Order: sequence, then structure tokens, then C-alpha cells
Amino acid sequence: MAILVTGGAGFIGSNFIHEWFAGGGEPVVNLDKLTYAGNPRNLAGLPASAPHTFVHGDIADRELVSALLRQHAIRAVIHFAAESHVDRSIHGPEDFIQTNIVGTFRLLECVRAHWEGLDAAARSAFRFLHVSTDEIYGSLGPADAPFSETTRHQPNSPYSASKAASDHLVRAYHHTYGLPVLTTNCSNNHGPFQFPEKLMPLVIHNALAGKPLPIYGDGRQVRDWLYVGDHCSAVRRVLESGRPGEVYNIGGGSERPNLEVVHALCAVLDRERPRTDGIGYASQIAFVKDRPGHDRRYAIDARKIERELGWRPAETFESGIERTVRWYLHNEAWVREVTSGEYRAWVATHYAP
Ligand code: NAD
Ligand code: DAU
Repeated sequence: MAILVTGGAGFIGSNFIHEWFAGGGEPVVNLDKLTYAGNPRNLAGLPASAPHTFVHGDIADRELVSALLRQHAIRAVIHFAAESHVDRSIHGPEDFIQTNIVGTFRLLECVRAHWEGLDAAARSAFRFLHVSTDEIYGSLGPADAPFSETTRHQPNSPYSASKAASDHLVRAYHHTYGLPVLTTNCSNNHGPFQFPEKLMPLVIHNALAGKPLPIYGDGRQVRDWLYVGDHCSAVRRVLESGRPGEVYNIGGGSERPNLEVVHALCAVLDRERPRTDGIGYASQIAFVKDRPGHDRRYAIDARKIERELGWRPAETFESGIERTVRWYLHNEAWVREVTSGEYRAWVATHYAP
């Protein structure tokens, strides 16, 4: 038996696979389309003996997915694959609809057929874990309570709307067909292998390259940051012990305004790799035009996963960003490779004055 991981050559999926094998997990079939965000080199460090099968393909390919489920006797699906970047969804939403909604729907259909063909014991042990985001809940005011699992869905970007649609489909497959699904809604992750179009790796990369550190709007938008290893441990815990049909919010309890996040990154860089002219990296901060419809604040109430499953993050905001910065400093070849080509075209279009 094996688990099927979708999107396992992206940021969180590849971290999950590394941690899965470090924890002695069973074989993994990793289905990934390798969009610009997918990079097989994220998995180059796996031990040669790791039972990892990489399959280059689309979650929307019914024949391929059905064959993988059957041939590998899949007992659980961990669904990370998605178009994940809010800014790209604003420039071009079509891919987000296709992968996040249509792709998730087709995957669910294949999984349902596979699950219905299992014997009673295997059916009850089977799990479909849908990895989703806090962005489906919309935006909070400064005094609002953090998002709980019962907060109304109010997505504001094409990305978050497409993820909310996928959450609804997953829920419906449990309610209608009894498919044993689990949904996780997590806050902003950071850590190794994150594509440098997202805030933290972008800032680290630009700082070292002597480029501006772009802050959208006034930089006072708040996100709740979580080290990716903690997200992976939470997903594993939910897979092992979560109750089918339930939603679990995952967060770091680390709300920070973007400007503070960038200053914190600059402080770590000043210590670890000071500029040769003695000036702090924060001098590179540049305010740029705001993201359209930019959500003001996200915050997660993660008491349910703590109470029911005993999960808490291991890293604080400070210890997490130290690890993240150090990883990028020690993996400059990885950054060089992913920042070539298509990424440059994106930066030229998106940050054009
Ligand atoms: P990512 O963009 O780094 O990786 C996504 C992966 O999915 C890539 O490897 C890509 O090639 C693959 N993919 C895209 N379309 C596909 C398709 N049609 N078929 C197969 N593979 C496809 O994203 P990420 O940041 O690792 O996010 C993973 C999941 O976690 C997403 O579902 C995202 O919504 C969710 N999430 C992310 C964060 C975050 O902070 N990054 C936070 C909460 C939830
Ligand atoms: O909240 C979870 C979400 O976090 C995930 O669902 C998404 O997949 C993931 O991409 C992330 O979305 P964000 O839009 O919050 O992440 P991003 O890193 O793009 O931006 C973080 C904040 O920083 C956000 O308020 C926008 C701001 N920002 C971002 C960039 C790229 C800037 O100020 N300047 C920038 O150049």
C-alpha cells in the first residue's frame, strides 16, 4: 500500500515528502504536473532507498489518476497540488479555475470510484486529505476574532475563491457519498523550497542581490506565519487521527504586519551575511503599488487541532525565520536555478512601474 501525494514537487508538498520519509512513512506516489512552481530538484536530497515514485502528470487526467490509485493500492491521498499564488491569480485566473476547481473535482471522482471498489475495512481506513488555506475565510478587521473552522467562507481573490470552491466540493463528497475526507486550512508558510515569488524568499533573494524589497501598499497587512515543517507535522497528525468530514485550522499564532516581517528578515540577514558597506538591508525597502483587493488581516484560531489532536507548532516566529534565512543562504544554487527563465518574465511584468 502507498499514499498518493499531489503537488509533491512544490514547496509544501516536497517538504511533506521529506518529513514523511524522515518519520519512516510508507511508499509515496507523487503526482505533479511540474508547472513553473514544481521542481524535481526539491526532492534531490531524498535517500536513494526512499520508496518514492514520481509521476509527471495532471490531477485532472482521469485515466492516469485512476490507474495510479489502482496500481499502487493507494490507501490515502494528500492533495497539495494547486495554483497557489494570489498575484498570479489576479493577472490570470484561468489556470486557478482549471486546477483548483476542475482538477480537484476530477481527482475526487477518481478517488470516489477507487474507494467504492475497496472492501469494507479498507473503505473505512481510507482518507482523502485536502490541503487548503486560511484565505477562504476572507479578511479580518484589527479587533476581529481569528478564523475558526465555522467562520463563513468569504474569499476575495480568484485564488482564494477557487480554493473555497474546492473545499466545498470535498465537503460535498463526504456528505453525499460518505468519502472519508479531511480538510486543513492553514496560514502563511515559509521555509525551504518556497518559490521566490512569495514574500519571504523574494525578500531574502532581493536583499542579497542588492535589489529593492517591495512592500505592497502601507505594509500593514497582517499574516499569521508558520514554519513549513510545522504545517507538515500538522497534516500528518490530521491524516493519522483526524475525524472524517472534519475541518482543522492550522496556524502559528504568529501574527505580524508585512513590514515587521521584512524588518525581521533584514535583521537576520544583517547578522548572518552583513552587507559589505555596513548599511542594513532594511535600507533596500521600497513601497510599491498595492495588490488589488489585498486582504488586510488573516489570523487562525488553531485551538481545535490542539485540543482534539494534540498538535502545536514546534517553531516560534523568530526560530522559524532563522531556519528559513539560513536555508536560503546555504542553498544559493537552488535559488539561482529557480530564478532563471520564466520567473524573470513574471517579475518584469508584475513589478513594472
Ligand atoms: P506551490 O505552488 O509551491 O506548489 C504547487 C505544486 O502543485 C507544484 O509543484 C505544481 O507543479 C503542482 N501542480 C499545479 N497544478 C497541478 C496539476 N494540475 N496537476 C498536478 N500538479 C499540479 O504551492 P504550495 O505553496 O506548496 O501550496 C501547496 C498547497 O498548500 C496548495 O493547495 C495551497 O493552496 C496550500 N496552502 C499553501 C500555503 C502557503 O503559504 N504556501 C498556505 C496554506 C495552504
Ligand atoms: O494565507 C495562506 C496563503 O499564503 C496561501 O494560501 C497562498 O498559497 C500563499 O501564496 C500565501 O498567500 P499570500 O498572498 O499571503 O502570500 P505572499 O507571500 O504572496 O504575500 C504575503 C504578504 O506579503 C501579502 O500581504 C502580500 C505581501 N507582499 C507580497 C509580495 C510577493 C508584499 O508586500 N510584497 C511582495 O512583493
